[in-house]
Amino acid sequence: MNFHPEEKWIDWVDQLSLNDFVVIDDFLSEDLFKRVSAFLLHKLVEDEFDLAGIGSSSKNLKDTSIRGDFTYWLDKDRDEDLSLAFEIIEETKDVLNRFCFLSLSGYEFHLAYYPEGTYYKKHLDQFQERSNRMISMIIYLNEGWKKGDGGELKIFKEDGEQIVDPVAGRCVMFKSADVPHEVMQTNVGRYSLTGWLLYQPSGVGFVLG
Ligand code: OGA
Ligand code: NI
Repeated sequence: MNFHPEEKWIDWVDQLSLNDFVVIDDFLSEDLFKRVSAFLLHKLVEDEFDLAGIGSSSKNLKDTSIRGDFTYWLDKDRDEDLSLAFEIIEETKDVLNRFCFLSLSGYEFHLAYYPEGTYYKKHLDQFQERSNRMISMIIYLNEGWKKGDGGELKIFKEDGEQIVDPVAGRCVMFKSADVPHEVMQTNVGRYSLTGWLLYQPSGVGFVLG
């Protein structure tokens, strides 16, 4: 099953190649959006989120002056309620392999919750000791987001900055190694499905040349 037609994918992939990032609205169907949101809410209520760290898992430092979000790492086998979300992630990976000649072979995703007043300072999504993250992918789950709620994604480009509002159903993809970005302070709870398409499965430690 395909979630999006090929001609749309070609356009999105073109933008990603050309600009290093792409913003796609209504990436999730209403049904899938509801499922992911309900799952997230359930995991929050069950207190299954942890304060996020900085760097790869071997050096999982926590510093809320740099990043204040809480995450729940997804597991395809355990989190069966999200099987459709894993399918759309896999479609994305397959399309990028086909049209961009990438060799993406895995992915890692988490749900993210930024409480009111938190942010994530300017950074790159690759770690010094593990640089297999090729494409960053964020899908926002903020129903009713409005100006003033904050939590915008700021993308730093050579020719200036780009602000992306974290509106519900919007997907942002960018090249993990090349695009510095930050999450501006949010004034309300901010929710997303966030992850990375990997050159090699995590733990392999492939170093980009
Ligand atoms: C990240 C990140 C951006 C966002 O988790 O590394 O930069 O808009 N997220 O949530
Ligand atoms: Ni990031």
